[in-house]
Parts: sequence; structure tokens; C-alpha cells
Amino acid sequence: MEMASLNSSLLPLLFLLLLSFSWLTLAHPHEDFLQCLSFHFQDSTAISKLIYTPTSPSYSSVLQFSVQNNRFNTTSDPEPVVIFTPTNVSHVQAAIYCSRKQNLHIRIRSGGHDYEGLSYVSYSLPFVIVDLINLRKVAVDARHKTAWVQAGASLGEVYYRIAEKNRTLAFPAGIWPTIGVGGHISGGGYGMMMRKYGLAADNVIDAQLIDVKGRILDRASMGEDLFWAIRGGGGNTFGVVVAWKLKLVPVPPTVTVFTVPRTLEQNATKLVHRWQSVASKLHKDLTIALVLRRINSSEEGKTTILAAFTSLFLGGVDRLLPLMQESFPELGLVKEDCIEMSWIKSVLYVVGFPSNASSDVLLARTPLTNRNFKGKSDYVKEPMPETALEGIWERFLEADIDTPQMVWAPYGGKMDEISETSIPFPHRSGNLYKIQHLVFWDEEGNEASKRHISWIRRLYDYLTPYVSKNPRAAYVNYRDLDIGINNIQGNTSYRQASIWGIKYFDNNFDRLVSVKTRVDPTNFFRNEQSIPPLSS
Ligand SMILES: Cc1cc2nc3c(=O)[nH]c(=O)nc-3n(C[C@H](O)[C@H](O)[C@H](O)COP(=O)(O)OP(=O)(O)OC[C@H]3O[C@@H](n4cnc5c(N)ncnc54)[C@H](O)[C@@H]3O)c2cc1C
Ligand SMILES: *[C@@H]1O[C@H](CO)[C@@H](O)[C@H](O)[C@H]1NC(C)=O
Ligand SMILES: *[C@@H]1O[C@H](CO)[C@@H](O)[C@H](O)[C@H]1NC(C)=O
Ligand SMILES: *[C@@H]1O[C@H](CO)[C@@H](O)[C@H](O)[C@H]1NC(C)=O
Ligand SMILES: *[C@@H]1O[C@H](CO)[C@@H](O)[C@H](O)[C@H]1NC(C)=O
Ligand SMILES: *[C@@H]1O[C@H](CO)[C@@H](O)[C@H](O)[C@H]1NC(C)=O
Ligand SMILES: *[C@@H]1O[C@H](CO)[C@@H](O)[C@H](O)[C@H]1NC(C)=O
Ligand SMILES: *[C@@H]1O[C@H](CO)[C@@H](O)[C@H](O)[C@H]1NC(C)=O
Repeated sequence: MEMASLNSSLLPLLFLLLLSFSWLTLAHPHEDFLQCLSFHFQDSTAISKLIYTPTSPSYSSVLQFSVQNNRFNTTSDPEPVVIFTPTNVSHVQAAIYCSRKQNLHIRIRSGGHDYEGLSYVSYSLPFVIVDLINLRKVAVDARHKTAWVQAGASLGEVYYRIAEKNRTLAFPAGIWPTIGVGGHISGGGYGMMMRKYGLAADNVIDAQLIDVKGRILDRASMGEDLFWAIRGGGGNTFGVVVAWKLKLVPVPPTVTVFTVPRTLEQNATKLVHRWQSVASKLHKDLTIALVLRRINSSEEGKTTILAAFTSLFLGGVDRLLPLMQESFPELGLVKEDCIEMSWIKSVLYVVGFPSNASSDVLLARTPLTNRNFKGKSDYVKEPMPETALEGIWERFLEADIDTPQMVWAPYGGKMDEISETSIPFPHRSGNLYKIQHLVFWDEEGNEASKRHISWIRRLYDYLTPYVSKNPRAAYVNYRDLDIGINNIQGNTSYRQASIWGIKYFDNNFDRLVSVKTRVDPTNFFRNEQSIPPLSS
């Protein structure tokens, strides 16, 4: 169902409007952009309500609303000349047409969780943000076990709407409910059911994409190569995803959760060491993730490391306990540690909402944290020795660092069965787990920022001998501008981009470059780490 390009279909309307508005000739590119947008729609008052410029009273609040990292919540970064919040797919088509026409750079934002703020901060100037927050319809077809979800919907909204229809259907995506499905699925997307069902992007069966020519494409009209590329090749690269069609997965009416916390004094080092060999080999229904933090120990009156073994089991406690006894007895899990609940309640539990919270909290879009943070990622293929863990603890205990944290996500199960080329996300069999390195801080100013960022870079350097090599793999959804040369002006060469490209996509990088070269040869959709086209 490829549609005629916007260019030709709207010409008659444009022509009429041009006649009536011809007295308006404006010098500034963004004013021309606004003019161009309003030319496209008969009801230009309705359109004007969806547009924010720096002089609009709510410009700052609309800009900040989906900022998820306080590090980029400042006026020192360049700001967009226009924020446009379309309510219709045709508005997105017009935004692409008009920004191309006026030579404006475009950034697409769904949930705003990009680790480096790339959906709303740009050094390619001037730029426009197309914020999809109003395109967030979730239509669940429980009978066929599918759902069409618009890009601006949050994961929380998706989970809530699925559970509302059927308590034994679910979708295997990320943990954090405010994440936007637009960016998330564009980079893969994983959560507590990855070992059973793979990534979010592994469970996408169709999509609606607007390409650089303003055409609305679905899977059939875009072709399998482009459909392959958009499921994990990174956002803001091939076009604007307006909606995904998801394949829903079955979950039992009762699942079991537990969190077992252990400090260094409670043998955390030995348990974490053991976890490395165990977690990727557990039954697919069982995911035990590991969250590592620094805490003040109440007994000893000093700081220590807390390892929290946080788990989701797709079944009841009576089946879980013998599995744990067989595969990870060292953890000493007992029935009292376990709580049985519905899958949707387990979503709340894993985020950390109080046990009496209503599922309605999943519908809220306001950020759940307003701290500064910097993140990085690593993959681990061989267990680290205990001495390596002790080096991590030492760094975590450095006093001038506010909140260091690591999340270790176990691989194996379904992830071992999916081919490395099935979608652009290449990190499959052979990986024991993924590390997410994080540091959070509240102190304002450059000095604090530099101190924390340099700390996490040192931790990353320290881990070099223990993690994946050639390439040192990374997860594109944990965007990290430290790894290689970035594409600030959109002129990064293939060779420069391949430094981060191979880390994120391994051998799939070349295929992504070839799709990009075919569908967006002028590199209209781009950011610092988007796939570059080959210049002909
Ligand atoms: C607090 C927090 C928790 C997280 N937890 C998880 C987790 O559990 N699992 C996991 O896998 N990841 C997790 N992430 C990472 C998250 O998946 C990525 O940051 C993801 O890209 C966010 O998507 P978004 O739409 O919210 O972000 P955005 O910042 O809006 O978008 C991210 C990128 O995609 C582009 N983009 C956005 N929408 C579209 C679209 N419709 N079409 C084309 N391009 C688009 C943007 O321009 C940007 O480059 C987490 C991030 C944060 C901040
Ligand atoms: C939304 O856009 C579609 C074309 O993409 C159009 O057919 C429809 O009329 C529009 N709806 C509204 C309410 O503008
Ligand atoms: C709910 O989904 C399950 C699959 O998990 C299916 O077997 C069942 O029939 C569905 N129930 C309803 C009421 O749709
Ligand atoms: C720690 O491990 C030792 C043996 O390795 C054991 O004797 C001790 O009870 C454990 N301590 C805790 C708190 O589990
Ligand atoms: C731990 O103790 C330090 C110093 O007393 C204090 O500043 C910090 O807030 C405490 N942290 C927590 C999580 O209680
Ligand atoms: C949950 O319980 C706490 C006290 O334990 C109470 O303060 C809070 O209001 C309750 N929340 C809801 C949604 O019931
Ligand atoms: C961004 O700043 C605004 C205004 O100061 C604040 O309300 C909001 O919580 C901040 N957002 C984040 C993610 O820190
Ligand atoms: C890209 O363009 C910018 C601005 O024109 C320039 O400063 C930079 O050196 C260029 N980078 C490369 C790799 O050509």
C-alpha cells in the first residue's frame, strides 16, 4: 500500500494555499518551515497548536517533558528552532517534506530515553524536533495475539493495554515503563523475558515507516531489507517509524518474583562469581538479573557492596524452588523470598514500585528519576575471576562518586537460538551476560559531571581484559558517544563510523550501510551515531 509521494499528492492544495498566502515571505528558515507546514493543511489553526517555538510560553516545558537524563536538561546545549508534536501520520509526512525543503535538520523523539540525549540535542543546526508523544495509540487484538502500537506509546502503556485485554498475554520488551517504543524497538529492546522470547525487535511482524520521500511504507512495500534494518539498526537513520505490529507472547496466570540481596559480608563476591556460570544456563522460564550497588551497611557502620539477585520466573513457586535447588543452591532461595502474582504486577515489582501500587502507574509519562547519568555497556563471554570483581568493588567504594551502579543481564535460552543476522542486533550465542555500567549524580556543574564521567571511563578501561574483544561489543540502546568518532555534522566516513558500528552491529554493519545507501543516500536522517551512506 505504497502511497503517492506527498510531494505530488498535495500539490493542488499547496497551490491554492500559496495563492491565498502569497503575501507571506519570511526570511528565517524556521518561519518558512512553519509556513510550509501550514500550507499543507486546510486547518492551519489546528496545526499551529502542535507547534512550539522558543517564544511559545510552553516551549521549555514541552522540550523538557521527555528529557530523561538531567545531564541534557540545560540551556547550554543547542535547542531546536521548532518542536512539532504531530497528531496524525500526515503531519509527520509534511514535517519531513518541509524540513527537507527548508534545509532543517530533524530529530525524532518518542520517549526521550536516549542515553546521550540524541533525540532532542543536536549540533547540526538549525534543527527541528518531531516529538511523537501524541501518536501513541495501542490497539490490541487479543484473539490474533497481535497489537499495533504507535511509536509515541510508552512500554508501560503497551503492557497495561495488553493485560487489560488478556492476563495471559504479554510482550517481551524493556523494564522501564516510560521508554518509548519508537526508539526502544529501533535499537532491539530487552527485558526480563528475553531468555524466553528474545528481544522486542525479534517479535515485530510489521511496521509503518515514513521514508525520506514522505511515503508511508509497510513491510510489504518497504521490502525485507529495510524491514530488517529498522528492527535494531538504531533510530533516526532509515525514516520515522510511526507504528509497529507486535506479536504477543503467552505468559502463565501466575508468575513468581524474588529479590535476594547479599552484601560483601554475606559472601556477595562468591555468589556473583558463581552467578556468571549459572545465569545463562538456567531454565528459559527463569531470569535472575543482578543489580550491583554501593550501600551504607547498618551493622558495620561503613560502606559495602550490595548484590541484588532480582528475578522473574514464568511459573509458580512450587516449580521454581526445585529448579533453584538444582541449578543455584548457593543462593539459598527459600519460599519466603518468593511472591506469586500476575505478569502485569511483576512489571511493577521489577521497576520497584511499592507492592500496593495500582497498575495505573504504568500509564504515567513523567520521568521516574531526574538525576544526571552516564551509561556504557559490555558483553561477557568468560566468567571474570574473583579478583576482577574485587577491583570493581574498590572502584565502587571511591568516596567522591555519588551513585555507581551495574546491571548484569543474563543471556542464553532463546538468545542462543536466534541467528546473529536475523535482525541487526548481533549479540547472541556465546554471551554469558551483558553489563550495563551506570553512574548517577545530582551535584550541578561541570566539575561534578567531569568527575563522574571520568570515573566510569576508568572503570570501563579497567574491565578491558575481562569482557568481549575484537570487537569490544556494545548495545546501541545504551548509546555511548565515547566509543569511536561521532558523526556531528553528518559527514563521518564509513571507516570512522565502523569503529562504533562494528561494536554495536558486528558483521551486520555492512548490510546496514548498504540499506542506508539505498533508502537515504543524502543522509537526511542522521545523528552522531547513525549509519552513514556510502558516497557514490
Ligand atoms: C531509565 C532508562 C531505562 C532503560 N531501560 C531499558 C531496558 O530495560 N531495556 C532496554 O533494552 N533498554 C533500556 N533503556 C534504553 C532504551 O531502550 C533506549 O534509550 C531507547 O532508544 C529509548 O527509546 P525512546 O523512544 O524512549 O528514546 P528517544 O530518545 O526518543 O529515541 C532514541 C533514539 O531513537 C530515535 N527515534 C525515536 N523515535 C523514533 C521513531 N519513531 N522512528 C525512528 N527513530 C526514532 C531517536 O531520534 C533517538 O536517536 C533504558 C533507558 C533509560 C533512560
Ligand atoms: C490523518 O492522515 C491520513 C493520511 O495519512 C488522512 O487520511 C486522515 O484524514 C487524517 N486524519 C485527520 C484527523 O486529519
Ligand atoms: C488469552 O490468551 C491466551 C494465550 O495466552 C489464550 O489461550 C486465551 O484463550 C485468551 N483468553 C481470552 C479470554 O481471550
Ligand atoms: C559464606 O560462605 C562460607 C563458606 O564458603 C559459609 O561458611 C558462610 O556461612 C557463608 N556466609 C553467609 C552469610 O552466607
Ligand atoms: C551513606 O552515608 C553517607 C555519609 O554518612 C551519606 O552522605 C549518604 O547519604 C548515605 N547513603 C545512603 C544511601 O544512605
Ligand atoms: C501504599 O501503602 C502506603 C503505606 O504502606 C501508603 O502510604 C500509600 O498511600 C499506599 N498506596 C496506595 C496506592 O494504596
Ligand atoms: C528538567 O528540568 C525541569 C525544570 O527544572 C524539571 O522539572 C525536570 O524534573 C528536569 N528533568 C529531569 C529529567 O531531570
Ligand atoms: C565534518 O564537517 C565539519 C564542519 O564542516 C568539519 O569541522 C569536520 O572536520 C568534518 N569532519 C570530517 C570527518 O570530515
